[in-house]
Amino acid sequence: MSLLALLLISVSLIPATTFALCNEDDKQNLLIIRDSFGSSNPPWHSDIPCCDWPGIDCDATGHVTGMAILENPLIGPIPPAIGNLRYLQVVRLHKLPNLYGTIPPEIAKLSNLRFLTISWTGVYGSVPSFLANLTALEQLDLSFNKLSGFIPSSLGDLPKLYSIDISRNNLTGTIPASLLHKVSDSYLLLSHNNLTGPEQVDWGRLRLFGQSKSTQSIDLSRNKLMFDLSKVKFPEAELLSLDLNHNMIYGSIPKQITKVVNLQGFNVSYNMLCGEIPQGGKLGKLDKYSFFHNKCLCGPPLEPCT
Ligand SMILES: *[C@@H]1O[C@H](CO)[C@@H](O)[C@H](O)[C@H]1NC(C)=O
Ligand SMILES: *[C@@H]1O[C@H](CO)[C@@H](O)[C@H](O)[C@H]1NC(C)=O
Ligand SMILES: *[C@@H]1O[C@H](CO)[C@@H](O)[C@H](O)[C@H]1NC(C)=O
Ligand SMILES: *[C@@H]1O[C@H](CO)[C@@H](O)[C@H](O)[C@H]1NC(C)=O
Repeated sequence: MSLLALLLISVSLIPATTFALCNEDDKQNLLIIRDSFGSSNPPWHSDIPCCDWPGIDCDATGHVTGMAILENPLIGPIPPAIGNLRYLQVVRLHKLPNLYGTIPPEIAKLSNLRFLTISWTGVYGSVPSFLANLTALEQLDLSFNKLSGFIPSSLGDLPKLYSIDISRNNLTGTIPASLLHKVSDSYLLLSHNNLTGPEQVDWGRLRLFGQSKSTQSIDLSRNKLMFDLSKVKFPEAELLSLDLNHNMIYGSIPKQITKVVNLQGFNVSYNMLCGEIPQGGKLGKLDKYSFFHNKCLCGPPLEPCT
């Protein structure tokens, strides 16, 4: 039996009197959201306290703090009424293939929002700059949608944001320097887009991704990035993995990469790199598939340099 089924059974055995209070305004807004998709989907029934609806979490006062709608065939855009659920800290809209339209500006009203997921949907349009109004935001996952246009640099100003995943969209333009230099950024996943930047000078002048106390995983693979890797300095204590495969990156691999103590993944295959692969450090654990298909990279684990 699945965990969900067990949970549903155990919930149904609890007497109704122990159900959390349900804030009436929040309940009405959830019903507006449900009805905007037509019919009773998600299955939120008005005769049950809203805090016990599937995917809904409340705080002790009955305000809705979490809303998750997952793997659902519901049809329609993201309802603007979501902006009225001011206590929301977590929103997860995941695997909703018939969710379409743009991200509504009402989302910007959610000043308590810490985790925003809109992934595996048909949502299109830009990554809106009003997301920078979400000052409590810690994680942003907009992967596997149909978003296009530029990444707003104002996202880099969000003080608590440490995880950004906008991979598998159709983004263009440059990666804002504000994201690359974010102090607390731990995860920056922008693979499978059409990103072209950043400007060469931004990478040469500054350390890659700043110096943070946390570990960093960066996936910028399968874009159109073009810069000189020779000029990049890696954060030696923090960098965990860096995937740059399938871009147009040139220059050589800096020897300094061998000083990155916790490096677990490194992939520069399918670029335009040249020169000898630095030997030592964690780099020795990598096979040729991390380096192959470059212009003239050489040395172990590739062919010897001539
Ligand atoms: C975002 O915040 C700014 C400044 O407070 C405000 O002017 C703007 O209307 C907000 N945007 C949205 C979409 O709420
Ligand atoms: C990138 O742009 C090209 C040309 O405009 C387009 O054919 C391709 O589908 C785009 N890639 C992505 C991942 O959207
Ligand atoms: C991505 O955007 C480009 C340019 O706007 C367009 O030509 C292409 O069809 C788009 N690709 C996808 C997969 O949406
Ligand atoms: C690096 O990327 C290439 C191209 O996508 C892939 O074939 C290879 O398996 C990757 N290497 C590692 C170690 O993941």
